[in-house]
Amino acid sequence: MESIQQKRILVTAALPYANGHLHLGHLAGAYLPADIYVRYQRLKQRDIVFICGSDEHGVPITITAEKEKTTPKAVVDRYHEANKKAFERFHMSFDSYSRTSLPLHHETAKEFFLDFYNKGILKEKAEKQLYCEKDAMFLADRYVEGTCPNCNNPGARGDQCENCGNWLNQEDLIDPKCKICASTPVLRETKHWYFPLGKYQEQLEVYVEERHKRDGWKDNVLQYCRSWFKDGLQDRAVTRDLTWGVPVPLEGYPNKVLYVWFDAVLGYISSTKEWANRKGNPDDWKRYWQQDDTKYVAFIGKDNVVFHCIVFPAMLMARDGYILPENVPANEFLNFEGQKFSKSRGWGIDLKDFLNEFPDADALRYAIAVNLPEYHDSDFYLRDYQARNNNELASILGNFVNRTLTFVQKNFDNTVPSQTALTDQDNAHLEYLKNAPAEIGNHYEQYRFRDGLLAVMNVARAANKYFNDSAPWKTINDDPERCRTAMHVCLQTVRTLAVLIEPVLPSAALKIWNMLNLKSLHAEQWDRAGIPALSPGHKLGGSKILFTRIEDKEIDRVLEQLEAESRKTESPKNSEVAPVKPQVDIEDFMKVDLRIAKVAACEKVKKSKKLLKISIDLGSEKRTVVAGIAEQYKPEDLIGKNVVIVANLKPAKLMGVESKGMILAAIGENDNPILLMPEKDLSPGSTVR
Ligand code: 2FM
Ligand code: ZN
Repeated sequence: MESIQQKRILVTAALPYANGHLHLGHLAGAYLPADIYVRYQRLKQRDIVFICGSDEHGVPITITAEKEKTTPKAVVDRYHEANKKAFERFHMSFDSYSRTSLPLHHETAKEFFLDFYNKGILKEKAEKQLYCEKDAMFLADRYVEGTCPNCNNPGARGDQCENCGNWLNQEDLIDPKCKICASTPVLRETKHWYFPLGKYQEQLEVYVEERHKRDGWKDNVLQYCRSWFKDGLQDRAVTRDLTWGVPVPLEGYPNKVLYVWFDAVLGYISSTKEWANRKGNPDDWKRYWQQDDTKYVAFIGKDNVVFHCIVFPAMLMARDGYILPENVPANEFLNFEGQKFSKSRGWGIDLKDFLNEFPDADALRYAIAVNLPEYHDSDFYLRDYQARNNNELASILGNFVNRTLTFVQKNFDNTVPSQTALTDQDNAHLEYLKNAPAEIGNHYEQYRFRDGLLAVMNVARAANKYFNDSAPWKTINDDPERCRTAMHVCLQTVRTLAVLIEPVLPSAALKIWNMLNLKSLHAEQWDRAGIPALSPGHKLGGSKILFTRIEDKEIDRVLEQLEAESRKTESPKNSEVAPVKPQVDIEDFMKVDLRIAKVAACEKVKKSKKLLKISIDLGSEKRTVVAGIAEQYKPEDLIGKNVVIVANLKPAKLMGVESKGMILAAIGENDNPILLMPEKDLSPGSTVR
């Protein structure tokens, strides 16, 4: 997949808004995959730069400032520092973590705008926009909410609907309301500058289709772009009537700034400039942005696809002389304990809070990496995190490293023993090690991080098997030569593993490196990781435990806190009638298998105030389902009752209990569920249509 001429790599990860704390969902979307990729490429000794920073403009920030009765500047200062620090604790290895409020960024964004203006690319149009007479302002972007014209979501914002992910024009919102005072805005004329996206459509289509074919873009990204092309690209306003942002660099435009997405994507360029300045080589950013032999990879979450695959490339095409992303590996979403992360519902966990509870960033990196939403949304469960840490990191990887080092400490004076004749088994294991870096690297080159990590852990599994099969605790007495050779091979394997785990588990890798008493892990070469390099007689360092086990009670405590938090922020009343969802075909509806089931047994889920574990009889089989109805129904009252269940729903775990199906309930006042029960007794398994 990789083309040979490419000399250097530019990697960007979406700039997070500096108006809230990072949570685990953000990490799974863009940041962790980007960091694994970059660390791997650095070990490949590639010339690479890794760029990120805070997105500090836009209405999300001014709204937060108004809510907190402070200034936008105070908001971005606080969250920029907080997010930067949280990323450091998570071992993100950015070369530059800049911010879009810096003068350097403002200059860069203005320069792009002026270049387009001078070339006559931008069009000025006077159009009617929503204006709030009470607040005396135009309602840009998130200052207005209304019903989405695509999906009927009543909470769509002026520029984006979070429900269907569409990028909107505010004049298309149905029943718009001012976000500040809730009054209905009026239409008033205002002038703005428009970027003619449509002019670049043909060029963009060729770009997207070609890159997809050549570089294996993900299908979801391609499909998304195609649907935009199908609708036809329109002119888009790139200025706003706001005061917080990059001022429009033209006379006669007071109180107008550049649209946040126009400036945010350029933040990648200004962050690279800042990095080059810091290094004392101010022109160096150009090698990464303006030379054709650079490969540019932009890591994002799926909600940013249109801006990175259509808007930004169009801007770069219009500018001339800039390279375009070669790939935009967009991940889907990560859910938390079976539900979407949601600030308003108080559901989820911030990175900083997570690391305060469980400080080992490597364990978190691992649990997210094995579960990255690469092709589908995926789930993060704390019990799964605990199991991954205990059963995989501690029991497989940590165990192998530790048993090897303590054995050598005890029996070989903490020194690498020499090897003599190799058995077939030794040779087979060494051959496997030799090939592992290429196999894992191949996955990483194609942005398949889950597969890559699985292959890494298979090396650790094979290492334990080799240790067991070699039985050094026996051969140390029966056949000391054999024992020395096997432990020599085990130590080489420890070294190989240290390099191979580095992209995902950087601090564990460093710990192992120190235990082996080696210098500079980062100067190692990925391609040589599988070739033995420890010399007999080399003195090792001290051995330490790599991963600490996590106890049930630690997880229980956090789960209880989470439930308590979410209860606090629960909406008191279900006052608005939810909009009807988009139509589905009868065939789609018939895919849902609804059945009558009889409740056979029922109990509360331990440590949960809301969940009941219900055993049901489906006629043909018995199953367990979990339902969030414990505050409304007592277990004993449900036994023998008929309920309606979705029988073919994929199983999901709730608070560690697997639920095979979902019981149907209506949502009453205060979000209380009320079970649907048939009016007459029916035999279990009866179908429902
Ligand atoms: O969705 C977001 O969080 C945006 N702040 C991402 C911006 S990416 C880039 F354009 F800066
Ligand atoms: Zn929508």
